[in-house]
Amino acid sequence: MPATIVIFGASGDLTSRKLIPALYQVFRKGRLSQPLNIVGVSRSKFSHEQWRAELKKTTAEFTGKAFDEQKWSQFADQIFYLPGDIGQFEDFVALAKYLEELEAGHSNTRVYYLSTAPRFYKQAIEHLGRAGLADEAQGPRRVVIEKPFGSDVKSACDLNHATHEVFDEHQVYRIDHYLGKETVQNLLVLRFGNTIFEPIWNRNYIDHVQITVAEEVEVGSRASYYDTAGVVRDMIQNHLLQLLMVTAMEPPVRYEADSIRNEKVKVLQAIRPLEPESIREDTFRGQYRGYTASEGVKPTSRTPTFAALKLSIDNWRWQGVPFYLRSGKALSCRTTQIVIQFHAPPHKLFDDSPSSLGESNRLVIQVQPAEGIQMHFQTKVPDAGMRMRQTDLNFNYQREFRGAMPEAYERLLLDALEGDASLFARADEVEAAWRVCDPIIAAWESRDKPTLFMYDPGLWGPEECCEWMTAQGREWFDTCPVLG
Ligand code: BG6
Repeated sequence: MPATIVIFGASGDLTSRKLIPALYQVFRKGRLSQPLNIVGVSRSKFSHEQWRAELKKTTAEFTGKAFDEQKWSQFADQIFYLPGDIGQFEDFVALAKYLEELEAGHSNTRVYYLSTAPRFYKQAIEHLGRAGLADEAQGPRRVVIEKPFGSDVKSACDLNHATHEVFDEHQVYRIDHYLGKETVQNLLVLRFGNTIFEPIWNRNYIDHVQITVAEEVEVGSRASYYDTAGVVRDMIQNHLLQLLMVTAMEPPVRYEADSIRNEKVKVLQAIRPLEPESIREDTFRGQYRGYTASEGVKPTSRTPTFAALKLSIDNWRWQGVPFYLRSGKALSCRTTQIVIQFHAPPHKLFDDSPSSLGESNRLVIQVQPAEGIQMHFQTKVPDAGMRMRQTDLNFNYQREFRGAMPEAYERLLLDALEGDASLFARADEVEAAWRVCDPIIAAWESRDKPTLFMYDPGLWGPEECCEWMTAQGREWFDTCPVLG
């Protein structure tokens, strides 16, 4: 069945940087199983031709060597633009009429992509409903909702409620682009497509898990949004908790949206709620020096740009295994990695046997930008008695597979067009994720808030955070990955 994707917020950054380049790539690679029309909607007054010309420039810039003039002109023939204001119901009536003409009355899959500022989500959804655009009589109708999905559990529940007034849950695709990353999907394959990892993936073998999403960049042009959000809302509630769920979930019964999401939600439900006293001990917040000088940030801002949390998962598999989550801006390097730290050997047979955790087996899953997996283990140094040294088995995507890794949005847009919600968050999942974060945010914003530690850009966050980890007998795996 042919498909139409309607992008609200068509003149925004996400559309030109990510959505159109991703759609162009799937078109160029021949991955679209159906003819696709793209309709952009926003308040700017573009003609079809003007919008196409804008998108050509940006797509060439963001796809680099993959840009091909001829392919682009075939692709661009299917791009249309309709000026419209989310606040004006008549514009949705006009959109409905326009889509009918474009699709010539044939059955058609439609995906409405909300790439606007979040404050417009509810109104866009309500107007889609009133204009009859959610009605599935003429084919599937889906809505894709960008993050942030709410700013706490209450607003997320409200948004879910407003969405369900118009769309049934099977029509709703809440996006978290981390799930579209190949290396995150590979975590499912590593765990459930192999036999050797699952038996050791539990408290009997694993001391703790570290999930780090470090960014080298500062807040930049998004400073005014960021200052109202902070690192927990911006990164932890969504991306880091998604990585945690995929790392910690039980094997799903089938590779199918609800089986997967049922298991993911159970992980969030098993996270021990952080009480005010434990928030003081088990969470850590920081801000990089210079943050308050950014344009758009209040000079007195106490917004955290760095967070580290220690979470416990109360179930059979993970009892007693802390999950450390850490994320920040202006850190040493850009790296997203999941470190599975195994226990030290129980008996010290060799003088050199690992006595500290840092020398014990470790599985490092490099999510980005150095996509790969390393297994660290001790090896006998040749010709040196029984001396040992840590070495590694190193799997690297670039070496193993040819071609550039696809952008996360390619996979997610294809899945939304094809109706596969496996890599999208369900209503209960986003609400449960906020339930984990809300007490932390509340304590961090309360009068009795814990210290905000300052750090210099270019480090791994505040020094005190390393001391906090050392005091627990553990070390952060602070290694910038080697690219290439
Ligand atoms: C976004 C956050 O969701 O993810 C940004 O709002 C962050 O602050 C970005 O920079 C990181 O995404 P990626 O794919 O570059 O790791």
